[in-house]
Amino acid sequence: MAEKGQKIYTFLDKYFHAFLGSVYVLTLGLIQGKNRTRLAKIASEFGWKDPRRSEPTRIPIIDPMQYFLGDDPVYMRDPISDDGNVSLLELLVINTLIKRKNPVTLFEVGTFDGRTALNMAANTSPDAKIYTLDLPSEKIVEARQNPLGDAKFVGKALIGYKFKNSSYGKKITQLEGDSATFNFKPYEKSMDFIFVDGAHSYSYVSSDTTHSLDMLREGGVVIWHDYGHICRGVTVFLNELYATGGIFKKLRWVRGTTLVILASDHILKNNS
Ligand SMILES: C[S@@+](CC[C@H](N)C(=O)[O-])C[C@H]1O[C@@H](n2cnc3c(N)ncnc32)[C@H](O)[C@@H]1O
Repeated sequence: MAEKGQKIYTFLDKYFHAFLGSVYVLTLGLIQGKNRTRLAKIASEFGWKDPRRSEPTRIPIIDPMQYFLGDDPVYMRDPISDDGNVSLLELLVINTLIKRKNPVTLFEVGTFDGRTALNMAANTSPDAKIYTLDLPSEKIVEARQNPLGDAKFVGKALIGYKFKNSSYGKKITQLEGDSATFNFKPYEKSMDFIFVDGAHSYSYVSSDTTHSLDMLREGGVVIWHDYGHICRGVTVFLNELYATGGIFKKLRWVRGTTLVILASDHILKNNS
């Protein structure tokens, strides 16, 4: 009898916590971003579809189990991801490709807190150089208001703090500028590995891609973040790039991630 009473008490306690929490999330709590995310999750459980994210995907998908979870030894630095970072699986894929390619020059568009740049440094040889670009602090307020910009993650983290005080910091050069107007000329045809993860509108990802391809050395690797049901601009742009054919027929989307990769077959499959 006492056991039954305990069960009923536990259920009611849980019920009222859930009830009061839900009322808070759907009313006053909506001023917090994390509660707006919860709202979207609840709505999608009940069949709601975000029209901004429902772009169909067209890039062929590859399985990370087959391509990336093999014997490549990688260093995973700062594995726990914050909102705005790549996921743990995405970090593993990026680090694996870096280990296979062994790039000497790397470029990242969108430094954020510096977690990916830190991992790039940890998985490259001592002579490697990593360049990572983000908005200068005085541009951040402006960028948060720019409809073509990327309000969500701009200014949410101290740019590059994860590598600044680490022993890897000396391999990393922090660049400041808006990627739409930054002078990429000095880096032309000199990069072995590029990660595109700055502003996510169609026009930004398109111009970031043009600059990345100009910077790429022959045989280099490019990775884009936020493809597929996440950012419409990235998805539409990469679908179009794939449709242009030629080397872009090699674009591959990694299952369980938002990463799209442009790499030669032997780097992708590690069957060199
Ligand atoms: C999603 S975060 C990047 C996350 C990071 N690559 C990582 O893996 O942890 C996007 C970053 O792009 C930066 N950004 C947004 N618009 C930009 C622009 N126009 N030029 C350069 N950086 C920009 C933001 O300030 C933000 O730090």
